[in-house]
Amino acid sequence: MAAERTQVGIVGGGPAGLLLSHLLALAGVESVVVEVHSREHCERRQRAGMLEAATVGLLRDAGLGERLGREGLEHSGIYLQFADQRHHVPLRQLTGRPVTAYAQTEVVKDLIAARSAAGAELHFGVAGTALAGLDSNQPVIRYTDQAGRRHALICDAIAGCDGYHGICRPSIPPGELRTYGTTYPYGWLGVLAQVPPSTDQVIYAHHDHGFALHSMRGTQLSRLYLQVPAGDSMATWPDEAIWKELTVRLGIPGWELAAGPVLEKGITQMRAFAVASMRYQRLFLAGDAAHIVPPTGAKGLNVAVGDVALLATALIRLLRDNQPELAASYSRLRLKQVWRAIHLACEMTTMLHVPPGEPGFAVQLQLAQLRRLITSAEALAAFAQHYAGPDSLGYDPGRTAPMMRAQARKGHAAG
Ligand code: PHB
Repeated sequence: MAAERTQVGIVGGGPAGLLLSHLLALAGVESVVVEVHSREHCERRQRAGMLEAATVGLLRDAGLGERLGREGLEHSGIYLQFADQRHHVPLRQLTGRPVTAYAQTEVVKDLIAARSAAGAELHFGVAGTALAGLDSNQPVIRYTDQAGRRHALICDAIAGCDGYHGICRPSIPPGELRTYGTTYPYGWLGVLAQVPPSTDQVIYAHHDHGFALHSMRGTQLSRLYLQVPAGDSMATWPDEAIWKELTVRLGIPGWELAAGPVLEKGITQMRAFAVASMRYQRLFLAGDAAHIVPPTGAKGLNVAVGDVALLATALIRLLRDNQPELAASYSRLRLKQVWRAIHLACEMTTMLHVPPGEPGFAVQLQLAQLRRLITSAEALAAFAQHYAGPDSLGYDPGRTAPMMRAQARKGHAAG
């Protein structure tokens, strides 16, 4: 078995793990990323596609804004639709923070390109990943590479960025972790279609038949979603049935939905989930490994970026500057933001999705809530602030003189 060393071992090569590796490298902290899937799989995975202004700001500041600047579509707001009327929520005007349509898959491609160009250690297609020595200051990631060689990677810290189904969260001893979650009695049927979007900004539609959402991937691809009952199977949804239902739910007088060939479709169960704490000794969880934000509002990627912005700063302080305080506060600081996003997503989810059974009462309540939202300037401004996300994400690598850095490293190695 080959024994190797790195400062930060990162499990998971999705947006969280890759961005963390990039942010650490900017401050001279080295890392190794291990990922079970192939590079092609990571670059193709369809996820949400709306970036908050703070996410865009961080990606730009980190030197990742070139293609995003060219291809990202900035939206000044969103549409909220109910009772046959479409209302514009002017996010930029109300908050100063627009949202940008740029798919997660594109963020991942940019990150892989940047890390590869910098000669980073990214190991895709690994197997048998496991953590050991979590109670020591030198935790270990064991894995088998694509050539079948077994590795033991000795780390100063490990970042668990391996998603909800990953191995990092379950590696924390039982009893050390509290979990909170709920499952909704419905899911989202998502469609990627080869047709220019019929809208300039995202439409969130409340309808008696259930929720529908019209989003986009660039100017030539539409991304659409339908609320479907929990456990529904794709077999009951031929393409014509999907377009028919989207047309009904998204339709308003004087507007038409353009249909086109369906490139991809699938159903995702709706749920919310979060752990406490997001840290165990020198293992730090980030992104979906620590929490699932329901997809209404497209906050998942933004929260994951917020996690790694703070985690990068905390690890730079810990490993480069020998200052452990921020690492000790990582979970507490992040969980406030995580729950802020879960709150927004759950509020939008229950306001817009029709519950199963006899939903009459619930629907009347939703309509009253939606009417209040668009008629009360105060309620709308509060919603816009919540939706537009935080002002900035707290990535602050700091500036330390090279001498002090070297000493901090030595001090750390000795301790
Ligand atoms: C998406 O483009 O996939 C998307 C947009 C807005 C949402 C959720 C998903 O709230």
